[in-house]
Amino acid sequence: MENKLDAGCCVIECERPLDAQYWDSQWKANTTGWDLGMPAPPLVSLIDSIENKNAKILIPGCGNAYEAEYLVKNGFTDITLIDISETASQLLNEKFANKPQVKVVCDDFFLHTEKYDIIIEQTFFCALPPAMRQRYVWKMHNLLNENGILTGLLFNRTFEVGPPFGGSKEEYEKLFYGAFDFITIETATNSVEPRANTELFFKFKKGDVLVNFYSFQGITCNGCKNSVTEIYSKIEGVKNASMSSDFKEILTVSDEEIDLKLLQELVSYDEGYKIEKLPQRHEDAKNYKNDFNLGH
Ligand SMILES: C[S@@+](CC[C@H](N)C(=O)[O-])C[C@H]1O[C@@H](n2cnc3c(N)ncnc32)[C@H](O)[C@@H]1O
Repeated sequence: MENKLDAGCCVIECERPLDAQYWDSQWKANTTGWDLGMPAPPLVSLIDSIENKNAKILIPGCGNAYEAEYLVKNGFTDITLIDISETASQLLNEKFANKPQVKVVCDDFFLHTEKYDIIIEQTFFCALPPAMRQRYVWKMHNLLNENGILTGLLFNRTFEVGPPFGGSKEEYEKLFYGAFDFITIETATNSVEPRANTELFFKFKKGDVLVNFYSFQGITCNGCKNSVTEIYSKIEGVKNASMSSDFKEILTVSDEEIDLKLLQELVSYDEGYKIEKLPQRHEDAKNYKNDFNLGH
């Protein structure tokens, strides 16, 4: 059968969902090859540059969270760690037992609600199925306070099988365009040796725009995906529109709210196409995920 998904789909993703069970089994089996055993040097430099020690900081998909140890050591007072794996979360609870500055949350990042000033990314984006990239942008925008910063490291290379799932500077610039203002996105200069010249250090500021997220039905090929996203991109006030690589979700970035009726009408040339707004609230999202088994 022809595989119509974008490059980036992989054996593991299609055969096994990358859910809590998957990640917990990696932690239990100690197959944590991503673990550097120390904070990544570019993130140490980043933390050294943050002046506000009371900034509300989130590290999603944090694993052993060496950066959080470094943050604590340097006087930061408000750090939240999220990991979906119970085993990882238990380790974190032990590690930070006497550190009231650190809150450990064992949950799916996509169900989290709170607001942060800074979110630090390290090998979380690449751990997610590529079809969740639009969802990642939407969620990150959602979780940040006004002028909040999303910053950290992204791979600038591909992998034969994932996770990790790679990407490129060009792809990230397209994906995040409009939703965030790019402060920097450049090859990191002080990566650990095995990752030298293959990771980008980025710092994006939350844009003062509306970022909306929809489910889409009826598309099965890249040609139709491109046609629909082009149509949506041309709506007045729309800065960016992109569809997930499994054709099921759409992200829009706009100055003003876009009428859902308009979005539906514009694609009514195909009666199979159906667009619906995805739930924005925590509880709704939980139910949505259970009912439709979306997300992972
Ligand atoms: C590749 S590891 C990276 C860990 C850590 N950031 C590091 O660099 O050492 C990805 C981590 O994300 C967690 N994870 C995966 N999907 C998640 C989700 N949806 N919500 C929260 N954590 C998730 C996994 O349990 C795992 O610990």
